[in-house]
Amino acid sequence: MSGKILLTGGTGFVGSHLVDRLLEQGQAVRCLVRQSSNLQYLKDPRLEFAYGGLDEATDWDAAFADVDTVYHVAGLTFARRAQDYFTVNFQGTEAIIAAAIKHRQQIKKFVHVSSLAAIGPGEKDRPVDEDTPPAPITPYGRSKLMGEEAAMIAADFFPVTIVRPPAVYGPRDYALYEMFKAIAKGLSPSIGNYDKQLSLVHVFDLAEGIRLAAENDTATGRAYFIASDEVYSYNALVKMLAKIFARRVRSFALPRPVAYTVATLAELGAFITRKPPVINRDKVTDLSQVCWGCSIERAKKELGYQPKVGIEEGLRQTIQWYKDEGWL
Ligand SMILES: NC(=O)c1ccc[n+]([C@@H]2O[C@H](COP(=O)([O-])OP(=O)(O)OC[C@H]3O[C@@H](n4cnc5c(N)ncnc54)[C@H](OP(=O)(O)O)[C@@H]3O)[C@@H](O)[C@H]2O)c1
Repeated sequence: MSGKILLTGGTGFVGSHLVDRLLEQGQAVRCLVRQSSNLQYLKDPRLEFAYGGLDEATDWDAAFADVDTVYHVAGLTFARRAQDYFTVNFQGTEAIIAAAIKHRQQIKKFVHVSSLAAIGPGEKDRPVDEDTPPAPITPYGRSKLMGEEAAMIAADFFPVTIVRPPAVYGPRDYALYEMFKAIAKGLSPSIGNYDKQLSLVHVFDLAEGIRLAAENDTATGRAYFIASDEVYSYNALVKMLAKIFARRVRSFALPRPVAYTVATLAELGAFITRKPPVINRDKVTDLSQVCWGCSIERAKKELGYQPKVGIEEGLRQTIQWYKDEGWL
């Protein structure tokens, strides 16, 4: 690609690592950020900025000047109200897609970062793949699926590719951090007394997978899971973390009805304090699933994607980062 890149979500966990990867490749990157955004991970002097949100008020002509590739990474992953997911993940995608369609002559590629949640969980020992019919189980998942549909509308105007990560881990992540924190204290809470299966992706591998999706012509009009090769057992991951932390970890399973009650109380507390709850009923639904696994065969075959960060190495490096930052 010879033009500039317009990237949304650059201040966040995934977006900031994608920015690092693109800069490493010598690409010219412009981040769309809000006046309220924290730019702590976007200090590289080569970066350009456009200011605005995912709505019509943004000066899209300035944002799209000299741009030929768009990475739409911005998204809302945790919200107090279900409606907020749709405002950002669906209507926000509609807004940037409408702007991109206005600038269609210059756009060579639009990569939309979605989620495994848009497709929903698999079944025990049966991870989903790109042919699995979408069946999201939470408002977040439904909003991400609607975001995919909004992005695909533009496929008549320029090449669009969708990337679906499962749970992402690595330096700067604050979502799975709660799990690391609990295990560091010797506790491993879970919901339901059964093991769960899950794909994970290290953020470095994900950034490379997203980049490959933009570079590859066969990816046009296609969706790809970008994840680990292996689908992990949650209990095995806890054991591995216990080994890394060199401590005994006590696992305890909350029965599902108890977990829903705790989540309802947390939501009530959040309503009163106006702070996001640590857990909500959607998270309980998510965490109760037997298999959040996905196959990466298509990405390997068509994009040449190959995860490089081994799980133990990735977990160790993530823990070290949390320690260096004083989070653990
Ligand atoms: N992390 C995961 O495990 C995971 C898994 C699957 C899919 N994903 C997807 O990956 C993408 C990035 O997730 P992340 O983990 O990096 O999230 P994150 O750290 O919370 O970052 C979210 C980014 O989106 C931006 N954003 C949020 N609401 C916005 C709005 N209304 N207008 C403009 N920008 C907005 C944020 O900008 P501000 O700094 O201005 O708030 C931030 O840059 C999302 O689309 C998410 O659905 C993430």
